[in-house]
Amino acid sequence: MTQDELKQAVARAALEYVVEGHIVGVGTGSTANFFIDELGKIKDKIAGAVASSEVTAERLKSHGIQVFDLNEVDAMPVYIDGADEITRQGAMIKGGGAALTREKVVASAAEKFVCIADGSKLVETLGSFPLPVEVIPMARAVVARKLKALGGEPRLRLKDGKPLMTDNGCVIIDVLGLQIANPVELEEQINNIVGVVTVGLFARRGANVCLLGTADGVKTLTF
Ligand code: 5RP
Repeated sequence: MTQDELKQAVARAALEYVVEGHIVGVGTGSTANFFIDELGKIKDKIAGAVASSEVTAERLKSHGIQVFDLNEVDAMPVYIDGADEITRQGAMIKGGGAALTREKVVASAAEKFVCIADGSKLVETLGSFPLPVEVIPMARAVVARKLKALGGEPRLRLKDGKPLMTDNGCVIIDVLGLQIANPVELEEQINNIVGVVTVGLFARRGANVCLLGTADGVKTLTF
């Protein structure tokens, strides 16, 4: 099976976690895109969705799914999203698609976080994937120095030769070379750096379930 076929398989399996008549929180990225395409097939069974990025909102709308502002939503049974890395304890690195802050906010409003990922995303220790940190633009140099002091190699994320701007008007610093032995502690430490909007570590509130696409089928990990 190709990586895309594995992503499609977990996206399809995630429909089982969608609660009829309710609003679904929807992530960002290629796996989330496959999920949106599946969700489009059952759009009449859900009340709508909350999107974690502008790109996701557009894709949801293109399927005729109503997109709600998070401020209009009181309860959300489930948030479904991909990950760049996930451990056997459910801690994740996210933000490869630069949507980490809205992903964390929407996930925080949901009762359950269902991570959908192909098998290559399962790791023993987080950190091979550069850790994304969303930062207020005027703070980028001072934050970069502090991230370096933590032992990482900070790199400003670029797009077409210019700093990539997030949906929130901020920049992303990717931190290379971290071996993250204690993700909860590092999440708190980086979130406490002044100028950081969000770190792409999802450990204090990790996934509740991970649907992992493997050659032997979709495996369900619960945490
Ligand atoms: C976007 C994310 C994505 O969930 C993560 O990058 C995984 O993406 P993909 O499903 O394309 O592998 O965090 O900000």
